Amino acid sequence: MPRPLSATIHLDSMQHNLSRVRTEAPLAKIWAVVKANAYGHGLERGMRGFAQADGLALVETENALRLREAGWIKPILLLEGIFDASDVPLLAEHNINSTVHNIEQVKMLEYTQLYRPIDVHLKMNTGMNRLGFTPDEYAAAYKRLRAIPGIRNITHMTHFANADELEHPRLTIAEQVRRFQYGAGDLPGERSLSNSGGVLHGAELAGMLSNDWVRPGIMLYGGTPGGRAAADYGLRPTMTLRSEIIGIQQLEAGETVGYGSRFEAPGPMTVGVVACGYADGYPRHAPHGTPVIVDGRRTTLVGRVSMDMMTVDLTPVPNARVGSKVLLWGDGLPIDEVAQAAGTIGYELMCALAPRVRVLEGRMGSDG
Ligand SMILES: Cc1ncc(COP(=O)(O)O)c(C=O)c1O
Repeated sequence: MPRPLSATIHLDSMQHNLSRVRTEAPLAKIWAVVKANAYGHGLERGMRGFAQADGLALVETENALRLREAGWIKPILLLEGIFDASDVPLLAEHNINSTVHNIEQVKMLEYTQLYRPIDVHLKMNTGMNRLGFTPDEYAAAYKRLRAIPGIRNITHMTHFANADELEHPRLTIAEQVRRFQYGAGDLPGERSLSNSGGVLHGAELAGMLSNDWVRPGIMLYGGTPGGRAAADYGLRPTMTLRSEIIGIQQLEAGETVGYGSRFEAPGPMTVGVVACGYADGYPRHAPHGTPVIVDGRRTTLVGRVSMDMMTVDLTPVPNARVGSKVLLWGDGLPIDEVAQAAGTIGYELMCALAPRVRVLEGRMGSDG
């Protein structure tokens, strides 16, 4: 028998969440973001779950090629663009759309003969200060790209730093859009601004965003970038992490649990040992009180998460035994809630799912 820990990926929820993007941004084409192994869900599963997207966006050329080999024929976008001039011929050969965010990439495109036209996304840095040309440099970068004979469509792109918080005190979406409009002005070409936060706030931002393409990631995987709960937006979980109780300990008052003896039993209590630890991707820093569901009852983590195991309070589940079902996140326990308790974000939990965890596919509501 395999170890009882498994992650079930719900392709039906992935399709559903994609349809939520269509509803929120009905006029835009969708780049489904499948970087980081489709946020931990598996690249090929991302391709299948988001088959109705208009394109897939990721980071590595080798994974773009994997998508082509797996049969994806629609557009692919490299979100960080190329890393070396030797990548340029691949763009033409495999019809891969590249982000261009610095002058080195412009030069690589200028110096390499393109034997087939390619499309690019020209990125503006509107305050995120990660990738892109400043609004003042932008038109000149555009002009240089436009002069390269092998470049066909140039889409104007920027990325929001605080799409989850409309009134962010330091940098608002409105301010980033203002800078974008200043830099891109009336330059011809399509526009791509919104990530999940921008899509989810589409109604509040109506009239401000002109997206020909949106680039949602986390909302496709049933999480949110912050703010309201995913279910409030009609999003469904796409990854359910389940395990079982593999040991039970009876503690007397004052006894402690696990490494560092951090948790002390306030009175006699029963503790369950769950087959899941930080080497599986469960956050080691999740504190006492992080929610866990055992046999359908909500309880909490106690003690420190170790490499292969973690311990939970069985007081609310007196009938729990070895073999009891444990839900760590997903269908029935929002990943964002677990992440928040652990001081991180749902993105990190999904992406950190370890290769040793068995991955199954199953519809939401099934046991996987
Ligand atoms: C350029 C770009 N666009 C879109 C996304 C998707 O963001 P989110 O997962 O918040 O929707 C990312 C993710 O970081 C990104 O880097």
